[in-house]
Amino acid sequence: MSDLAEGFDALAMTQDLVHANGHEIRCEPAAARFVARPGDTLLKAGLAAGLSLPYECASGTCGTCKARLLEGRVDSQWPDAPGLSERDRARGDRILCCQSVPSTPCRIQVVLGEPMAKPKPQEWRAVVVERAALAHNVIRLRLRVAEACPFLAGQFMLFELPAGRRAYSMSNAPDAGATLEFIVKRKLAGRGSGYLFERLAVGDDLTLEGPYGHAHLRADSERPIVGIAGGSGLGPVWSVIQTALHCASERPMHLFFGVNEAADLFHDDEFRALAQRHPRLRVERVLLRRGAADPADCRIGTVSQVALQQLDDLTGCDVYMAGPPAMIDAALRDTVLAGKAAADRVFFDRFY
Ligand SMILES: Cc1cc2nc3c(=O)[nH]c(=O)nc-3n(C[C@H](O)[C@H](O)[C@H](O)COP(=O)(O)OP(=O)(O)OC[C@H]3O[C@@H](n4cnc5c(N)ncnc54)[C@H](O)[C@@H]3O)c2cc1C
Ligand code: FES
Repeated sequence: MSDLAEGFDALAMTQDLVHANGHEIRCEPAAARFVARPGDTLLKAGLAAGLSLPYECASGTCGTCKARLLEGRVDSQWPDAPGLSERDRARGDRILCCQSVPSTPCRIQVVLGEPMAKPKPQEWRAVVVERAALAHNVIRLRLRVAEACPFLAGQFMLFELPAGRRAYSMSNAPDAGATLEFIVKRKLAGRGSGYLFERLAVGDDLTLEGPYGHAHLRADSERPIVGIAGGSGLGPVWSVIQTALHCASERPMHLFFGVNEAADLFHDDEFRALAQRHPRLRVERVLLRRGAADPADCRIGTVSQVALQQLDDLTGCDVYMAGPPAMIDAALRDTVLAGKAAADRVFFDRFY
C-alpha cells in the first residue's frame, strides 16, 4: 500500500474514532471547540468542556440557551419545546442547546459567558432510599448515588422520567457524601411529578444528569441572605440557607416561605429546629389566602411583598428565590424593578 493510501486509511480510522466518541462542535464567534459524546446535549457537552453556554431551565422552556445552527444536524429531545417561538421555528436554523443532540459535527453561533468554576454536569445512577410525604401534595425524595456527587447549594438535576426530563433542585446541603434530597410538589395532571408520586418506590433506580444552575450560594459574600421561596421552591433556598449557616461568617439570614393556604404548609419542625440552633436565622411563613384555622404566626400576602414589608429594602442583601414562574416574576417586579434589590445580587430559579 502506498504512503498516501495508508494516510487516507489512518484518517478514516481517526474519523470513525471521533464519530464513535462524539462529534466536534465549533462555537462562533468565540472560536471555541468541544466534543459532544453520543447522546449528550450541546448544553451538557459544552458545560462539561468548561464553556459557559447560556442557559436557565435546562428543560426546553425558557429559551435562554437558544443558538443558531450554522452547519451540521441535531436531533431535538423535545421538538415542540416552548423555548423556541413560532418565529424561531420559521427561521429554520434556531435550536435550543439544552434539547439538541448532535448527529454530525456542528458549527453553532452562540454568545458564551465568562467561564466559572462549577461542578461539571454528568450522568448519575441513583437509588431511592426514602420517599416521605411532607404535605398533601409534597414529598421529600432522598436518593443515594454510587459515588460522591459534587454540587453547589441551590443547583438542580435533570431526572430521566418516562415522560421526558424534568428538573428538580437539591434541598440538602452539599457535603462529601453521596446523598441527594429533593422536595417535589405534585402538579395537577403533571406526568413527571405524577410518576414520582404514584410509581416511584424505595429501592427503584433513577438516572440523573447534572448539576445545573446559576442560583447557587455565593459563599464568598458577607451580605445578609434573604430567601424567598414559594411551595417546593423551598428546596434550593433551604439548601442555600443550611450551607451558609455552616460557613464561618455570621451573615444574618431571613427566610420567607410562601404557600397558598395553611393546608399547604410543611417543614415546620425543620424551621423551628434550625432557627433555635442559629439565632441569626429568622423564618416567616406566608399564606396567600386567609383561612379560618390559620396558624397565628403566619403572615398574609404575596411572599415577596411580605418580605419587603418586613425588611423594607434588600439592596444590601443577597437574595435567593425559587418557585412557580408567576411568583418569581412578581418577586422580581417587587424587588429588582422597584429598585429594592440589586439586580446582580438576586439569584433565582423559575420552576417551569
Ligand atoms: C430549574 C428548575 C428547578 C426545579 N426544581 C423543582 C423542585 O425542586 N421541585 C419541584 O417540585 N419542581 C421543580 N421544578 C419543576 C419541575 O421540573 C416540573 O416542571 C414539575 O414537577 C411539573 O412537571 P410535571 O411533569 O408533573 O408536569 P407536566 O405538565 O407534565 O410538565 C411540566 C414541565 O415539564 C417540561 N416538559 C413537558 N413536556 C416535556 C417533554 N416532552 N420533554 C421534556 N420536558 C417536558 C416542561 O418544562 C414543562 O413545564 C423545577 C423546574 C426547573 C426549571
Ligand atoms: S435553558 Fe434551554 S430552554 Fe431554558
